Amino acid sequence: MTSLTNPGDFPLTETWSYMNAANVALMPMSSAKVITDWQTDVALNGSNNFNDHAEDTAFDGLRVQGARLFNCREEDIAGGSSCTELLSSVAWAVMPGKHENVVSTDIVFPSTIYPFTRVSQHTGCEIRLAKGENGYASFDEIVKNIDRNTAVVSISHAEYTGGQLYDLAALAEVAHANDALLVVDATQSAGAIPIDAPASGADVIISGSYKWLCGPFGAAVMYLAPHLHEKLVPGFVGFRSHEDMWNLSPERLEYPSTAKRFESATMAFGCIKGLGKSIEYLTDIGIQRIYDHNIMLADRLIEGLNGLDLEVVSPSNIKERTSIVTCRVNGFDPAGIVLGLKERNVVVHKRQEFVRFSPHLYNCGDDIERAVTELSRLLKK
Ligand SMILES: Cc1ncc(COP(=O)(O)O)c(C=O)c1O
Repeated sequence: MTSLTNPGDFPLTETWSYMNAANVALMPMSSAKVITDWQTDVALNGSNNFNDHAEDTAFDGLRVQGARLFNCREEDIAGGSSCTELLSSVAWAVMPGKHENVVSTDIVFPSTIYPFTRVSQHTGCEIRLAKGENGYASFDEIVKNIDRNTAVVSISHAEYTGGQLYDLAALAEVAHANDALLVVDATQSAGAIPIDAPASGADVIISGSYKWLCGPFGAAVMYLAPHLHEKLVPGFVGFRSHEDMWNLSPERLEYPSTAKRFESATMAFGCIKGLGKSIEYLTDIGIQRIYDHNIMLADRLIEGLNGLDLEVVSPSNIKERTSIVTCRVNGFDPAGIVLGLKERNVVVHKRQEFVRFSPHLYNCGDDIERAVTELSRLLKK
């Protein structure tokens, strides 16, 4: 089983079995070039090339690619510096009040809920975390926490520890029946799992760039459902927040009537361009094709880990699975296993007491065999 990528696109894969996209993915060299070219141009030419017009239109490429990624319109897409930044702006825009609550899970990555935790410190809204175990929280447990006072269900589409995937349409249905918004952190899914944003029913979907989207640090992409375009007033604002950003006046602030209203300030614009390029790279291959490829790799990996008598804690049901495969290594220090594998050119990650594998489109069947073989050698030592 070969990778989905061309030789040279991800040079490290020629010598390493890099299976760590859930932490930091490799980036196509074409994206890295876009970023450094932009940075070099600004260093050499300042505003001669990166002029007012270029700055005004800096997110346009991301909007085109984001629309392909999420099967939505360009007007539904905004860019930012990080998932946390965009999520925080959304959290303050919604600002659930004292008698309201925000529902998530107790196994969620902190960034998915902290922005709302900060709001709760200000307004007194309640944060409700559905109980999970071994990186898994059941759908029913989440639903139990949602009631008429729920303002927001804020979840990670795929949980970072074991890769559990939630059914967004089912969650949206429950959230909307209670007049709550579904806010989705897709940092562990976008780029690896097909997401049809309008069909999912999600109100907001945000993804960081440097994991499954194979982009750089310093960029993120957001989908904002059309019904919120003129309703949500961003929590974070700056001179870009005004609908005509170069019509500078401190005396009024009128927001664009699209998702663009969440773009507030200058940023590492090269990173936004690099993220756009990475999304283009992935969507040209096809997210469904990447999903099928990654699941096949995960299948082989699970088979190999079972053969070593290791307990895989990631869900086995296809509807709840991603290519994140997490296992327990009883009797061994997971950090030692991760280090031992790295010394053998196999890159995986430790999360809690587990070892987490996260193969992506640039991995091939040989990577899996090498990981399982090297792991078996380590366990025998
Ligand atoms: C689900 C999820 N959201 C967000 C982040 C990180 O967000 P940021 O890049 O804004 O720090 C991570 C990082 O592991 C993550 O797993």
